[in-house]
This record gives sequence, structure tokens and C-alpha cells, in this order.
Amino acid sequence: MTLPTADTILIVDFGSQVTQLIARRVREAGVYCEIAPFNAAAEAFERLAPKGIILSGGPSSVMWDDSPRAPQHFFDLGLPILAICYGQQTMAQQLGGLVASSDGGKEFGRAYIDVVAPSALFEGLWSVGEKHQVWMSHGDRVERLPEGFAVVAQSEGAPYAIATDEARRFYSMMFHPEVVHTPDGGKLLARFAKEICGCSGEWTMGAYRDAKIADIRAQVGDGKVICGLSGGVDSAVAAVLIHEAIGEQLTCVYVDHGLMRAGETEQVVTLFRDSFNIPLVHVDVEELFLSGLAGVTDPEKKRKFIGATFIDVFDAEAKKLGGADFLAQGTLYPDVIESVSFTGGPSVTIKSHHNVGGLPETMKMKLVEPLRELFKDEVRVLGRELGLPEAFVARHPFPGPGLAIRIPGEVTKERCDILRKADAIYLEEIRNAGLYDAIWQAFAVLLPVRTVGVMGDARTYDSVCGLRAVTSVDGMTADVYPFEAAFLTRVATRIVNEVAGINRVVYDYTSKPPGTIEWE
Ligand code: XMP
Repeated sequence: MTLPTADTILIVDFGSQVTQLIARRVREAGVYCEIAPFNAAAEAFERLAPKGIILSGGPSSVMWDDSPRAPQHFFDLGLPILAICYGQQTMAQQLGGLVASSDGGKEFGRAYIDVVAPSALFEGLWSVGEKHQVWMSHGDRVERLPEGFAVVAQSEGAPYAIATDEARRFYSMMFHPEVVHTPDGGKLLARFAKEICGCSGEWTMGAYRDAKIADIRAQVGDGKVICGLSGGVDSAVAAVLIHEAIGEQLTCVYVDHGLMRAGETEQVVTLFRDSFNIPLVHVDVEELFLSGLAGVTDPEKKRKFIGATFIDVFDAEAKKLGGADFLAQGTLYPDVIESVSFTGGPSVTIKSHHNVGGLPETMKMKLVEPLRELFKDEVRVLGRELGLPEAFVARHPFPGPGLAIRIPGEVTKERCDILRKADAIYLEEIRNAGLYDAIWQAFAVLLPVRTVGVMGDARTYDSVCGLRAVTSVDGMTADVYPFEAAFLTRVATRIVNEVAGINRVVYDYTSKPPGTIEWE
């Protein structure tokens, strides 16, 4: 892989829930960085040749026999190291200090630390005598610092809040600078990357784009690439980038299962064929999907049928095109990071997610995944850089199985059409109110419940429509969007008046957890 810049930082992951945030903060400072699990950090170091290293937090205790360690030679490289929480403890122990175990488990909380001595880490940002808010992690604690270290910030409960060895440029902290509850945390990480490690801070999406184009050309040569478009941002950005690299060697396939939102298919086809001039095969298989879904009400059965049928159609189209050497996918960084998991045990399948990732072995195509190093918001920046229209780039996520999982009970063409109309009204109102970008995802669902109503002088007996809107950072957790009552009333009135088949509207007030974002 061509690195997008010579100035990189390596983040060694010890399994903290928030390691990805360290990477995001460093990248926000214009410095390219990558995360590697502690046991693969030595190889990652060779590949990246970073100018500095960050040791993440993690759930382990250095008191355990097999606790994770940073590669010992990292401390002899002469490079700056920033160690956070668990990283601080393992660094202290690996350099000859002493760590004592705490009685309870780990706790986190807002704390105020006093700056007691100067440090290059916060020069020009914090001064001696000041107090600053941080998000403190209380678990095991350092009891005796390694030689060369001194305390530069502390609080009553955290005597080693920040301890540094200024000569060796080793900085360690008990708190999480990467989370928003440490208001100056982003600045501390930026100072570390730029002022201390000497990274230029000039990594841009333009540089990423150029590096990726070079990579794609080198990987693909004169081979043929096929890319499945889902209508979402990730596959669209991947396709436009690959097209810029290899032009007509790329063919996109859009499997139209008839479960898209109003106007979506037209948008995708127009955008790709007309604006970008990218060869696009539009496979209209609505009938195949709807007939297969007839009578199916179980959510997992719907998901499995749609996933498998999607793959069959894609496979058949690839064969019709005479095969291809490469399959392009919009895989993102969070899917790639080998997370360090200590939980063990089987995890429960909540939903079978459907992605093109499940393509059969027999297709035997090599993968082209040009977004593998990017976070979702960075993909949006790249999309803008590539000239994709804002309305497309800023779109809310939409699930692979489409409207099928927003119609609990049996999915029929009639019910899809009803839902499309209600959903379009809801989104139009959200856009008109200027709320679209403040919401992670908003959509309507059509319930398999009929209720009695009255329209004019007549009795109605029609379906209930549910409205959902959530805010979220990554879709893993979500909060309900607090619309004003007048807004919801307006939407409900319009839907009942304008959409035949719906006579009642309800708003979903469930956060995630315990709810999920989609209803099925
Ligand atoms: P849940 O419903 O699990 O959704 O809280 C979390 C996020 O994932 C999206 N989602 C999917 N995306 N294929 C996808 O590509 C799927 O099968 C799928 N199911 C849910 C959902 O819209 C939300 O953004």
C-alpha cells in the first residue's frame, strides 16, 4: 500500500472501547495514523515507519500473567511515546516501575487535575497552577514511576494523572484524551503528533485520493473490476474513486430488489450513468425478490433470503459480463480493525447483516477495497473531494435488505408503495425543517396492525405508520431525536391525509439499546 504521507503515527491497541477515537482525533489534526493490535504492532511498525507511538487503554490488568504488552523494543527506538490508561500502566511496568492492583473494577468519571510542572506535551496550552477537566480512568494504578519519570499533573485521586520523561519524550496519562469529556484532549493529541513527533499535519483527503489511485492502478493493472452498488455512500465513493483510477475497466452492478426508497433507483442510475459516465448494469429483479418474500414474516428469514438472492443475482451478472478479476467493495476502517477482544465466549446474533461481503468463494475474485483505511465521516469528505453531490454524500445510512425490514409482517408491492409515500413525506418535512443533517437516520415503518379511524364522515380501518429518528455516532448506540410536538403533528397529518392505506401515525421513543435502530 502506498502510504498517503510519510508522517504517520502508530496506535497500539490494548482493547479499549475508544481506541478508534484516538485515531479520529489524530487524523482530525491532519496526521495519518493506523491502529494495530498489540500483538501485531511490531509488523505494523515496520510497514508504517511511524514518527511516534500511542499506547491505548484497555480492559486488562498488568497484574495478570498473560497481560498484553507493548513490544519491548519500542522503548529503545528513540521515538516519542504517548501512553493512555492501560498503556500508562504497561509502559510503567515495562520500564521498571511498579503498578498496584485496585480492589474494584475499572471506573471512569469526570475529574479535575492540577498542572504541577511544565511539559512539552502541553506547552502553550496548559500552564503550571491551572486546573483542567479530564475523563479519568480509575483501575490499577502506578505506584512507583520508572526512572527518569516525574509527575506533571495530578489530582487527589490520581497522583500520576500525567507523568512524563521529558528527555526520552515518553508521556503517560491516567485519563482518556480522546473522549469529548476531556475538553483539551484533542489538542493534547494534536500537540503530541505534530509538535512532539514532528508530523507536518498536512495529510488531506486529496493526498489520500492520489495515493489510493496509484494503489488501485498498481493492484489492478489491466484487469477488470466489478463493483456492486447499494445506493449507499460507501459503495458509491469506492466506485467513483476506482473509476477515476482505471476508467472503463470498472463496471458497476446495481441489483434493484424493489425495496428501495422513493426515487432512489433513479438517483443512482442517473448519477452514475449520466454524471459520472460509469458503465452501470441496472438489474431489475423486483419480481424475483417480492415473489420470494411472499408469505415470509420472520425477520431473520427475510434477511437471509434477501442476502442469498442478492448474491445469486450478482454472481449471475458477473458471469454475464464475462467474469472479472477483481471485486470492489466499500469496506470501511471500523470493519477492518482487528479488535482486541478479551470477552471470549460466543456472541449473540441480533440480526444477520446483509452486505456484499458474503459473496461466494466460487467467485474467486480478488478484492479492491480503497476505503479500508477510512472512517465513515472521512468517506463523506472523500466523496465531496471526488465531486459527488452533497445530497448523495450526506445521505442517512440505509440497510441492505431495504424496506423489507421496515415492513414487519409480510412484504408486498402494495405495502412497499404505501411505505415509500409515507417515508418520502417524513423526509421531506425533515429536510424542510433543516433537521436532516442533525439526524443520523430517520425513516418510516409500516406496521402489520390495522386500527379504526374516521375520515370525513366515513369509518376507516387502515395500517399504522411508525416514525423513527435517531442520533448516533456509529450506529452502535443511538438516542431518540427529540422533535417538537408541532413537527410530529404536521408529519402525522400529512401522512394520514396524503397516503391511502395509513390512518394512524406513532413516534418510536426507544433508544438503542434496548431497541435497535431498524425494527427488524
Ligand atoms: P440496527 O438496526 O442493528 O442498525 O441498530 C444499525 C445500523 O445498521 C444498519 N443496518 C444495516 N446495514 N445491512 C446494512 O448494510 C444490513 O443488513 C443492515 N441492518 C441494519 C441500520 O440501518 C443502522 O444504520
